[in-house]
Amino acid sequence: MSIWRRKSLAQLMSEASESEKGLKRTLTAWSLVALGIGAIIGAGLFVRTATAAAQNAGPSVTIGFIVAAIGCALAGLCYAELSSSIPISGSAYTYTYATMGELLAWIIGWDLILEYAVGAATVGIAWSEYLNNLLTNVLHVSPIPYSLSHSPFQSMTDPATGEVLHGMINLPAFFIVALISLLLIKGTQESAFVNGLIVVLKTSIVIMIIIFGWHFINDANHTPYIPPVSTYTDESGVGHHFGGIMGILGAAGTVFFAFIGFDAVSTAAQETKNPKRDMPIGILGSLAVCTVLYILFAHVLTGVATVEDFRTGGKEASVAFAISKYMVGYEWLAQFVTVAILAGFSSVILVILLGQSRVFYAMGKDGLLPKAFGDVHPKYKTPYKANLVILVIVGLFAAFIPGDIVGDMTGIGTLFAFILVCISVIVLRKREPDMPREFRTPFVPVVPILGIAVCLAMIYGLGWTNWLRLAGWLVLGLIFYFTYGKKNSRLNQPQP
Ligand code: ALA
Repeated sequence: MSIWRRKSLAQLMSEASESEKGLKRTLTAWSLVALGIGAIIGAGLFVRTATAAAQNAGPSVTIGFIVAAIGCALAGLCYAELSSSIPISGSAYTYTYATMGELLAWIIGWDLILEYAVGAATVGIAWSEYLNNLLTNVLHVSPIPYSLSHSPFQSMTDPATGEVLHGMINLPAFFIVALISLLLIKGTQESAFVNGLIVVLKTSIVIMIIIFGWHFINDANHTPYIPPVSTYTDESGVGHHFGGIMGILGAAGTVFFAFIGFDAVSTAAQETKNPKRDMPIGILGSLAVCTVLYILFAHVLTGVATVEDFRTGGKEASVAFAISKYMVGYEWLAQFVTVAILAGFSSVILVILLGQSRVFYAMGKDGLLPKAFGDVHPKYKTPYKANLVILVIVGLFAAFIPGDIVGDMTGIGTLFAFILVCISVIVLRKREPDMPREFRTPFVPVVPILGIAVCLAMIYGLGWTNWLRLAGWLVLGLIFYFTYGKKNSRLNQPQP
């Protein structure tokens, strides 16, 4: 059998209608917008905005947000068409199976592990750092000991005693991944409810910072809005283009992370009440809301504090630092930011683990992964075996691997998925011109081609070490496919 065999649309649609026996349809357009915002607002906004202002663009980081948003919107328009036409679990993996065949579908499924599973572990590790931040700076109690909150590959010298501390296991990171996986097993509606609460909390804090901070904007910090071209060398000796167009593009690459996650909404198509109408609203709506908030937030932040502040003070806690230093009377807001970040990280993990389990579920059903991944819990109607496997893999990863090794791989994996989704729209328009499309991407093939170009430009910006890592990961995936998936594929079995 060929590695290019495709799943027919008829087959996909009959699986979608069979879904009454499987996943439960509980999600509405609003819960999808909330899921999107849940996955989107996190470290990208609260940590990377200040980094991009410091290293690349000063106040023009707002324009960097606009560039990254354009790239995501182009891909988002393509996601919206595919998820409204092929409304079943699996997102980019499923669309590729229908358009470009099994091998490429496998590759994209394997690649999505980078975005979702590796991404979730990375955010879990950041959650653990912020938990210690909360314990020490907000609650003023002892932090979790270094050895129990870091991987065995990390060590540091205690500034107070001069003693060298070694990591052993990152227990808080494991804890949050396990807790969220169990919540996901309990039910999609329950998970969406908890996500909704977090979304209200974190968006309120973003809006409060925008409204209260607006009065503290110092025009001098915004002049000139696009700084003149120069170079900035950070403390680890790495040089960055600062100012001008290159600075803005560098900032776009840095803050792209802040948008990752909007596509995870599309993995839940099979649990959506009216996916054809609600998917485009969920994907494009959450992207639009976050883009507006991001631009306003970045405008306020860079107006309140100076570029020098972002370079020297506060580092990853720059937002809290800027509020405490300049917004007199709003110290409480600085403390709330830490709480918002912890909550924000939790919902990011929740939605991307939801995405991962639905991709594994679809791959298990197709036989490319062991069939157990496609089993649904008799009572909770969730793919609990996929969730349990993910708990173990992502949990171990979060407990024992340092965060910085995998952060950029999440970005490159996501961009690669976006490119394949843009290509799928073009291919499917040619192969299945008459297929009903509730939402049509405008100006095909211009929009998908522009989407591909912007994503390729951002991949280029991530540098060759990351290209190599992506290539290495894909080779590993090919070995799996040729030793397991190809033989066990459901398309390889006699059809009933
Ligand atoms: N967009 C998510 C974040 O910024 C991944 O944390």
